[in-house]
Amino acid sequence: MSHLPRQRSRSVGPFSRLVEFCYAALRGRASFGPDRTPEHDTSLFDHMSTRSERTLTFTIIGLFVMAVMLMLMLPSCKHEPLLPPEQIFTSEGGTGGTAEPIDTNVYCDPDTVYFQQTILPMLVTYCATPGCHDAISHEEGVRLYDYQHIMQQVHPYDPGHSDLYDEVQDGDMPPNNSPQLSNAQQQLLYDWIMQGAQNNSCESTCNLDNVTWSGTILPLFELKCNGCHGGSNPQGSLSLNSWSVANTVAMDGRLAGAVQHVVDFSAMPPSGGMLPQCDIDKILIWVQAGAPNN
Ligand code: HEC
Repeated sequence: MSHLPRQRSRSVGPFSRLVEFCYAALRGRASFGPDRTPEHDTSLFDHMSTRSERTLTFTIIGLFVMAVMLMLMLPSCKHEPLLPPEQIFTSEGGTGGTAEPIDTNVYCDPDTVYFQQTILPMLVTYCATPGCHDAISHEEGVRLYDYQHIMQQVHPYDPGHSDLYDEVQDGDMPPNNSPQLSNAQQQLLYDWIMQGAQNNSCESTCNLDNVTWSGTILPLFELKCNGCHGGSNPQGSLSLNSWSVANTVAMDGRLAGAVQHVVDFSAMPPSGGMLPQCDIDKILIWVQAGAPNN
């Protein structure tokens, strides 16, 4: 605009007058209009003698304010999340975070072994125990509490060349004085690796009928708790293989507090995320029934 030739400021027509006005405003002086003299060149508003000039000025100021407001509003749009909250993947808490989103909308197939529901909780209790392969100790640099670290010991489709399975099958791990994986549990590990060692997860309907100690609670503890709470030297001096011990922590409130991660109780399991809601519900039903030995 500053290159506009001065002599064109005398031209008529609304557009030319707008251009003239902008030019004058930018230069901070009023030198347009048919009857301007140099002594009027003092202030921008002095020369707004006609109604149409004033209207034009306020229109331009209005447009300018709107443009500034728009520019200020634009950056705030960038903070909008790209996905609605329910579509953003969140790990289940604890140290079980994963880089890849997990498709949780898969219905559980009885012939598939799922990492999230079975392998992770089993390894957390039998291997990621205090002093062994947990986040604090990570003996020999081996960490067995989340998918990425567990995969450093696994060759998918090849259990024989997967240290994770090899050590267990040879009887080297867990150490002799610790609770051992049962044959059925070793088979789960083998099948999961043979199926590609995926970070897979599934949904099943939650059946809360006929919750019993022997048919529901003990098997749940065997898979998810008793690597720590079994054997001759159980963690927290709580042997959850034993009904009487389980009944004691059920009746004094510690079992329900621990699995629901209530403040003032130790969160159980301590890593790998909370138990699925269905497991928690089963435990609560058993506790509310008086934790019977059935
Ligand atoms: C990785 C090992 C580990 C696993 C897995 C684990 N626990 Fe524990 N648990 C501990 C240790 C260690 C303590 C005692 C120290 C503490 O209170 O933190 C404990 C304490 C407890 C307590 C007492 C809590 C309190 O506040 O006094 C209960 C109840 C319990 N565990 C239940 C469970 C149940 C049920 C499971 C399985 C769903 C489970 N634990 C899995 C290690 C484990």
